Amino acid sequence: MRHLLDIVDLSEQEIYSLIEKAQDIMQRPTKYQDVLRYRKVATLFFEPSTRTRLSFEAAAMELGANVIGFQSAAASSTAKGESIGDTVRTVSNYADIIVMRHPVEGAPYAAVLDSEVPIINAGDGGHNHPTQTLADLLTIYRRKETFDGLTIGVCGDLKYGRTVHSLLRAMSRYQNVRFVCISPKELRLPEYMTEFLRDKRIDYTETVDMEEYMSELDVLYMTRVQRERFDDKNEYERLKDSYILSESKLTTARADMCILHPLPRVNEIAKEVDMDKRAAYFEQVKNGKYMRMALILFLLDHRNDPTQFVSLDHTADRCRNPKCILQFESALPGLTRTIGTKKRCYYCESLI
Ligand code: NCD
Repeated sequence: MRHLLDIVDLSEQEIYSLIEKAQDIMQRPTKYQDVLRYRKVATLFFEPSTRTRLSFEAAAMELGANVIGFQSAAASSTAKGESIGDTVRTVSNYADIIVMRHPVEGAPYAAVLDSEVPIINAGDGGHNHPTQTLADLLTIYRRKETFDGLTIGVCGDLKYGRTVHSLLRAMSRYQNVRFVCISPKELRLPEYMTEFLRDKRIDYTETVDMEEYMSELDVLYMTRVQRERFDDKNEYERLKDSYILSESKLTTARADMCILHPLPRVNEIAKEVDMDKRAAYFEQVKNGKYMRMALILFLLDHRNDPTQFVSLDHTADRCRNPKCILQFESALPGLTRTIGTKKRCYYCESLI
């Protein structure tokens, strides 16, 4: 069985196949409308969502599947203290595949330890969001016709912005890609991401100035400051409007630059930019549904494959990241995996 926890669980070749499949579904939707008849997709959302949940549900329905699930932890037995493992073990009896979003880092990584069906990570705290990356990749591919040689600016909350983490990992596998990471000092990329980029010898620059490299960018990926992840609300208030993209800030940008945003937007992109032909964030929304359709088909096709666990080690030295699922579920085993040269928490990638 295959799961999708991290975008690099899919090879570059598999990503190209998903892109081809998504484009075929776009062109010939009726061919796919009954392929998952009598199948069920479960959407377990422990955190708010508009696009991710509704696009997964629409994707399932357009393949002929039925959808079950819940939209908040309060509406599930989590509110009674049930563990993630018991929840997914239960839902494995009702659904063929589980889509899970959770506010705690590593929650879907815990889920796969007990699930009997494929798990899709639909966002785990400030960690990863691989299916948003699938939407981003299809959008970039349709606009740029390649992933190689691109200079990608990511702007906003790079610390808690899980979509950025997954996008950087995905894009770092292509040739001659360069990243410009634009954020306030307080919201720079987390240690496990900068370590990843250094380890892979990726060309990246960090800056606080949104306009400094504007003329060099092929893609500008805007993000909102992630209010719900801040421990200090005053800090959020201070940083929330750090970057606001307007037409005047785009004067030096290339005519074929592509502006992306995973949405929801708060203030980071002025409404006037929506009319600019470089704006691609609503295309991204549309593309997300088709990539999710392709992904559901792919994982169900591979449900008899052996599960590929990276090599995990038990440790008595439990992760201390306060946002890691290990702090919330004491029955979970302390596990580590080696990434690059360092031993990290299996669930959230913090250093152990
Ligand atoms: C993103 C998320 O949930 O991480 N939204 C989404 O899934 N499209 C981005 C965000 O919430 O800022």
